[in-house]
Amino acid sequence: MLIQETNSHDLRIAMLPYTSALKLVDMYIDTIEEELFTYKSQNPIEHVKSRLKRPSSIARKLEKRGYEPTLENALKYIDDIAGVRIVCQFQDDIYKVAEVIKNFQNIRIVQIKDYIKEPKENGYRSYHMHVEIPVRMLHGEEMVKVEIQLRTVAMDFWASLEHKIRYKNESDVPEHISKELKLCATMVEQMDDQMQHLNNEIEQLD
Ligand code: GTP
Ligand code: MG
Repeated sequence: MLIQETNSHDLRIAMLPYTSALKLVDMYIDTIEEELFTYKSQNPIEHVKSRLKRPSSIARKLEKRGYEPTLENALKYIDDIAGVRIVCQFQDDIYKVAEVIKNFQNIRIVQIKDYIKEPKENGYRSYHMHVEIPVRMLHGEEMVKVEIQLRTVAMDFWASLEHKIRYKNESDVPEHISKELKLCATMVEQMDDQMQHLNNEIEQLD
């Protein structure tokens, strides 16, 4: 059944496990924050955002990848129907939080893509975790895919501008804009490194 021809009730039903998965991941992250703060007085997470991908975006992504935009293909091939973004202050915090997530019993890590160590060609940097978590529904338990992105505030700032230009200008982003964005990505990287270094020194002071 094509996504655009599926009625809204059926779409809602298909999305229910993802909605629940997002709530669970939100709760897990909340717990991580509480624990890190209570035990270690650490506060690595700046903010968390979660979102469910819209059916039209799901269909567009499937078509772009050469699949028929059906609900079945969406469940099979789209890893980021449920997406959570964790924004941290410093790069080290990203790896700290990722480590805690990896040790969570209820979270199965499917794939990690470290675009911080290896940025994308356009300069994009973030740490992506594709995970699966068990969600209990009326018909039983199912494993649901969630994409967790971890970034610094600075990486997030860059990514939102890059997203905006690509969204506005899907086919051809003017050459000078791509170049300038890439330059900004380098500056963001330098700033992240320097802020990290400074923070390490500041923490040594007390
Ligand atoms: P994975 O998540 O590791 O599968 O990355 P991918 O290269 O397959 O990217 P995909 O197209 O699946 O995008 C996943 C999400 O990552 C997107 O919805 C964006 O939020 C983010 N993302 C990936 N690449 C970029 C990029 O070049 N620029 C921006 N602004 N966001 C990106
Ligand atoms: Mg992907």
